[in-house]
Amino acid sequence: MTSEKVEIVKGVYWVGAIDWTLRDFHGLWTPRGGTYNAYLIIDEKITLIDTVAPNFSKELIDRISTIIDPAKIDYLICQHVEPDHSTSYADMLKVAPKAKIITSMRGAEFLEKSYPGVKFPIKIVEDGSSLGLGKRSLTFVQIPMVHWPETMISYMPEEQLVFSNDAFGMQIASPYRYADQIDDWYEPLRAYYSYIVRWNAAAVLKAFKKIEGVPLKIICPSHGPIWRKNIDQITEIYHRWSSSPEKEQAVVVYSTIWKSTKQMAYAIREGIASVGVPADIYNLEEEYLSRAQGAAMEAKAVVVGAMTYNIDPYYPTAAFMPYLKHLRPTSKIGAAFGSYGWGGGATKVLTQQLKDFKFSEVLEPLDVQFRPTEEDLKRCFEYGQEIGRKVKAAFS
Ligand code: FEO
Repeated sequence: MTSEKVEIVKGVYWVGAIDWTLRDFHGLWTPRGGTYNAYLIIDEKITLIDTVAPNFSKELIDRISTIIDPAKIDYLICQHVEPDHSTSYADMLKVAPKAKIITSMRGAEFLEKSYPGVKFPIKIVEDGSSLGLGKRSLTFVQIPMVHWPETMISYMPEEQLVFSNDAFGMQIASPYRYADQIDDWYEPLRAYYSYIVRWNAAAVLKAFKKIEGVPLKIICPSHGPIWRKNIDQITEIYHRWSSSPEKEQAVVVYSTIWKSTKQMAYAIREGIASVGVPADIYNLEEEYLSRAQGAAMEAKAVVVGAMTYNIDPYYPTAAFMPYLKHLRPTSKIGAAFGSYGWGGGATKVLTQQLKDFKFSEVLEPLDVQFRPTEEDLKRCFEYGQEIGRKVKAAFS
């Protein structure tokens, strides 16, 4: 463990854990590792905000111990019971025996059900209530479904600082603790949002309403770097992703065995680009599904391709479809394509799924038998052009 001390404002420290080797965070691709952030407040009452994931309790306790004896902790604030934040409470209580766990009503219920047999010294706090810590205080704001029903955030008005839990987080391990020290945070933030938050976008908008007008200088999330600059930019991005994430762009995703569907994918992509719409392309056998999901969230058109495997879409594309569904893609144009040998079936399944996911418009699918001919590739190119024109029309 590093002995670095990260003091965000006077008496408020980052004391989390860094997982440099994390590559898959329950389905989210994390090529650069991840972090579990916890924060220690030194005031008349010593307070820890959140804990860390399984196997990282020692790192958390060691880090706290470089600042204060953990036995002096008065409050353990449990904002969210998902195990990446709550697993260490039992370990913390061993070294902080006088501490009370502060959480919401549902937080208490979820803690007891998640750790049967553990006796937690819980104090339940109401939505909007405040807790004095000495010179500073915390106001608790419940933000159900960002990410679980029990989730709350804690606002410190004296510093205009919010401990935002999963909101504004990303999974990235870095020697830097602040977002302004990291150049390329957009894609990790987008991937995290699209995989973990987007399904509950309406809840994010409700949460924004609850904190409307609250002055904010610093955002301390439970994953990834701390936001201390460009607060307006990051909140605007979150607002956009939660309301209308689509830009004038398209994405083509596909999977293939004998490369016919790949040929189709590239011809379609060319057709989309030819009318001036940027189009990205992902081979779902080579890309982690959550990476393609992040691109799909911002695309106005999502074009899904798969060869027919027996009677169904080849499995990488089949596996991607729930990722697409969880974007709540109701303002997107969808289209399906693929090759088949004899019976076909993949594009029929994919087209029905796009309709079931409530895409705002779904095109008739495009099929090619065996190997695409020049004529078939021309059809693919024209199919892409049609999709591209629809994207352009949506923004004109
Ligand atoms: Fe980082 Fe929903 O837990």
